[in-house]
Amino acid sequence: SVTEPLKVMISGAPASGKGTQCELIVQKFGLVHISTGDLLRAEVSSGTEIGNKAKEYMNAGRLVPDEIVTAMVTTRLSRADAKEKGWLLDGYPRTFTQAQSLEELNIKPDVYIVLDVPDETLIDRCIGRRLDPVTGKIYHLKNFPPDTEEIKARLVTRPDDTEEKVKSRLEIYKKNVEAVISTYSKLLRRVDGNRPKEVVFKEIDSLLSQVQKDKEKPAKLG
Ligand code: AP5
Repeated sequence: SVTEPLKVMISGAPASGKGTQCELIVQKFGLVHISTGDLLRAEVSSGTEIGNKAKEYMNAGRLVPDEIVTAMVTTRLSRADAKEKGWLLDGYPRTFTQAQSLEELNIKPDVYIVLDVPDETLIDRCIGRRLDPVTGKIYHLKNFPPDTEEIKARLVTRPDDTEEKVKSRLEIYKKNVEAVISTYSKLLRRVDGNRPKEVVFKEIDSLLSQVQKDKEKPAKLG
């Protein structure tokens, strides 16, 4: 087919389930997942220059400066796989300036998904979250415990997942969200993220399938 591949943005408060849904979206749609949080954590753990700069901001639950994150994202988006398979941008843009940077480069999504989850739930999800450093998979002590003792023993906690830092991340999210959303108001689709992950995915799945179908339709003449 000559249809261009899907371009998706997913946003939502800290722990709204972006990473969890992205795992499922990638499995089904084969998009290239670009998570600024994951990219930054990888830079931090390999001790690069970017990582060393980003670390203090991240550990404090604050945003990393726009220039650093934007350079990282635009580099990743320009690679061949993202152009061929389509992309799924997770956690970017997060400020008005970041959204404007993409607009200036004429990089636009087909759809902008926002996961809505109440504040109380977000705190609980962060406190219980654990990551598998080997596979990158996301777990939760209560909601999604790992299957084996071997995995359980190697799980790690994110340094920014304390109650205090989650509250600060949430505040920063709320301060920026309206300005970012205003850039994509025509493409905005709100999804209730306060449901079991399979139920949330079912809705996202049908949403993306529809967007994909619409892209395949030949443009109307006149
Ligand atoms: P980032 O990693 O993007 O953090 P975040 O936005 O705070 O989002 P999270 O990763 O915390 O949550 P999520 O929505 O992916 O939820 P998850 O699926 O894990 O960014 C980290 C930091 O990097 C930032 O604070 C900043 O410093 C920096 N940064 C990143 N992007 C930046 C940018 N653009 N500009 C500047 N700085 C940037 O789920 C959470 C938990 O809930 C898990 O335990 C999961 O198992 C569980 N869960 C998920 N779904 C469900 C469900 N449906 N029901 C029950 N439990 C669920």
